[in-house]
Amino acid sequence: MVANERVATGDGCQNRGVYRGERMRIAIDGPAGAGKSTVARAVADALGWEYLDSGAMYRAAALKGSEHTDIRFERGRVLADGDDVTDAIRTPEVTAAASELAGDPEKRSVIVAAQRALVSSGDWVIEGRDAATGIAPDAEVKVFLTATPQERARRRAAQEDRPVEEVEREQAERDAADNTLGRSVLTPAEGAVEVDTTGLTLDEVVAKVKALVA
Ligand code: DC
Repeated sequence: MVANERVATGDGCQNRGVYRGERMRIAIDGPAGAGKSTVARAVADALGWEYLDSGAMYRAAALKGSEHTDIRFERGRVLADGDDVTDAIRTPEVTAAASELAGDPEKRSVIVAAQRALVSSGDWVIEGRDAATGIAPDAEVKVFLTATPQERARRRAAQEDRPVEEVEREQAERDAADNTLGRSVLTPAEGAVEVDTTGLTLDEVVAKVKALVA
């Protein structure tokens, strides 16, 4: 049986063998550098489901200077108040502003409400550090994606063309700072299945996650 028949049979399904809902959501979280975005996008593509890049919403709101910005995802592009901001939200300035916005509880709650509204219908792969706790605590499948600190730093360093030692140092600081959401980003949400991506190819990880739903 496959996920698109809305029958959850995999090990990751909280209501395994019982779930007969009309839709499904996979919530993917985990620490920086575990490959959340790449894996979430690839799993959504493989299943033909929608993909929620929750970080892009903080970025788009930060770019526009308001958490009340109308944010949509269309054909792989990010639209903020109708403007295509897909590339503009990736600058270091926006990264810093998004982090600040995400740390403000009131602004954050506006964004989380918008995210919950988005995923209130349809099949979704939801990616973000609070995917399985804040955005979709009732997701049918929760995945905690992880990798060793060395592997996470190695991937980031290769992506950004920087020395691995430097990235590893920053990462340790970021992991510690990310404890602010009431839960460490290094701790899986309740009911989450841990998938260690160390030494695996993207295809291998996607296959593991897909196996959790079908
Ligand atoms: O994943 P990212 O770098 O695109 O995220 C941008 C910022 O938003 C970053 O500071 C982390 C934060 N964020 C968050 O607090 N909760 C999420 N679900 C996603 C991102």
